[in-house]
Amino acid sequence: MAAVRVSEAGKRAGGAAGALAEGARPQAAAAEGEWAEAPTDAVRLVAPSRTNDPYREMDLLRLSTAGSVDDGKSTLIGRLLYDTKSIFQDQLEAIEGASRRRGDDHLNLALLTDGLRAEREQNITIDVAYRYFATPKRKFIIADTPGHVQYTRNMVTGASTAELAIVLVDARKGVLTQSKRHGFISSLLGIPHIVVAVNKMDLVDYSEAVFERIAADYREFAEKLDVKDLVFIPISALKGDNVVERSARMPWYSGSTLLHYLETVSVGAERNLVDFRFPVQYVIRPHQDFRGFAGRVASGTVMAGEEVVVLPSGQRSRIRAIETPAGPLAEAVEGDSVVIRLEDELDVSRGDMIVRTMNLPTVGTRFEAIVCWLGVAPLDPSVSYVLQHTTRAVRAFVSRLHYRINVDTLHREPATTLGLNEIGRVEVTTSLPIFHDPFQQNRATGSFILVDPFTNVTVAAGMIRGEVRTAESVFGAAEATTSPDVVWEGWNIARERREARNGHKAGVLWLTGLSGAGKSTIARRLEERLFEAGCQTVLLDGDQLRHGLCGDLGFSAEDRRENIRRAGEVARLFFEQGALVVCTFVSPFREDRERVRALLPEGRFLEVYVSCALEECRRRDPKGLYARAARGEIPNFTGLDSPYEPPENPALVLETDRVSVEAAVTAILRLLEAAGLLRAR
Ligand code: ADX
Repeated sequence: MAAVRVSEAGKRAGGAAGALAEGARPQAAAAEGEWAEAPTDAVRLVAPSRTNDPYREMDLLRLSTAGSVDDGKSTLIGRLLYDTKSIFQDQLEAIEGASRRRGDDHLNLALLTDGLRAEREQNITIDVAYRYFATPKRKFIIADTPGHVQYTRNMVTGASTAELAIVLVDARKGVLTQSKRHGFISSLLGIPHIVVAVNKMDLVDYSEAVFERIAADYREFAEKLDVKDLVFIPISALKGDNVVERSARMPWYSGSTLLHYLETVSVGAERNLVDFRFPVQYVIRPHQDFRGFAGRVASGTVMAGEEVVVLPSGQRSRIRAIETPAGPLAEAVEGDSVVIRLEDELDVSRGDMIVRTMNLPTVGTRFEAIVCWLGVAPLDPSVSYVLQHTTRAVRAFVSRLHYRINVDTLHREPATTLGLNEIGRVEVTTSLPIFHDPFQQNRATGSFILVDPFTNVTVAAGMIRGEVRTAESVFGAAEATTSPDVVWEGWNIARERREARNGHKAGVLWLTGLSGAGKSTIARRLEERLFEAGCQTVLLDGDQLRHGLCGDLGFSAEDRRENIRRAGEVARLFFEQGALVVCTFVSPFREDRERVRALLPEGRFLEVYVSCALEECRRRDPKGLYARAARGEIPNFTGLDSPYEPPENPALVLETDRVSVEAAVTAILRLLEAAGLLRAR
């Protein structure tokens, strides 16, 4: 299986949305030059810099715009290009002619950008045009994203590298959903500066009151967002008011013009110059005596002579030299494409990361993230996608979907999947460790994309929030047991196919409770009923597992944790084979049970609390264990000298000192029915 090679997907991922995975800068190896992936259809006047001046990016501002054509976005971009004299004479003549032919009474600046777009919209899925212009103070790259139905993925793609977002609001219409969405996505992407350009002021008589009301509305909405800097500017892109030239028609406005603000806003401070991260793109070995690692400094700085460590191997060395086409550097900073040479001969390959010994990213196979779903096919928790993160591509699946975020209201909504353009909070599990930081700290090592391994299509863009909340317990054990040499292989026959044939869904029913509470009795009767009904079932029982797979474990908290971890992993294997897995384990610790829940897709782990008063369990004492424990023969006995933590939110509680076995089984069958597991679809 796994016929599709990861590297193929990786290559594709380097396209449009790849920018997000690479963080705030387009990715390119040193040899390819800095602008290797910039599209060619843009209005391009500024020759890209090829020098290796570490400060060259200080005078470059990347901004995003989004909105529908009606907002005047095209006109605004046209105005910026026109008034800054960033248009070639022949382009100007072409749009003058086109404006006349259309009967426009003015130079239709929107034609500058719209003309190009129409063709592209035919069949390109991720559609962002980059436009360049410059003033004596700064260079600008505008990611221009059309705002039709595909708004989210366009915005995400376009805005992923931006330091500033222009949100356009039509003064006549006020704050619309679209303007809110753009603000929300911008804040999600960590864009620190948002400029709300209230456009078409000429159509509201340049009214201060209209402008103030819109600013107040938007400010109220933006309070819920994490935006460092929010600025409002009243403009008319059509007439040129406050875009490049200060408007005489709005004397009540004393702030900057849009261009002046763009020229002066401080963006250098947003760079992460602290945490040195160098994802290795290529190993360069032209001859025996030279071995270097090419890549782009994702963040931080590093100097020749400094001690570094290579992840994941953990081998240490010192920086021998930092090479560039223009000669060696004493120091490399964020954004530099360089070749690093180390003092020692270490085994380093593409996808590894070089960092400082005292400043390490999180290394792990499970993390929390916000993802924007970009795929036409919805998120499928059973699919193993290719996760592209810096220069590393690994297999990954979405192990949990916490909730979907309603982009309009910012409310959290329960969800079992994410469709095109939807945004959700998820937990991702990878087959191999990745080296990551929270997106808020580091856009380069905090972002990733998911690629469908069969179609090579980018299906999601994600921002890492951090490790899974119970990170140590969740992955402490499992991580240690995942050898870096083990490659995750997708399931041969997809669970869905098995489910379709079985006529029911797969699920894990987890019965927890004191010894003697009746878990096994209920489970056995239940399995019998399911089997009779033609279901594919498996019964995993604590006592049985402890005779084989878990025979080496005792009853300390640590051993129980490992016991439940193994049980959970086994349950998951059977789950993926399409079974209804009935599990009966005392599993006294909440955290251990939550860990199992986290292994399964939302809604497929049903926790049933088999509750029974301790006195009744003692009285029943089917195996004589309570009596032995009372004589001091069994230490750490649950309910006696070892605690039991009842589920906080079980799907079902069965009080076995009050209900019969038959009633309990019926209640579970009803639960399975209600959870939709007894039907294939
Ligand atoms: S768990 O705590 O790790 O979840 P598990 O369900 O596998 O336990 O096994 C519990 C079974 O082991 C009980 O049904 C009981 O028969 C037996 N047992 C032996 N010692 C203990 C103990 N100290 N606490 C609880 N159960 C015990």
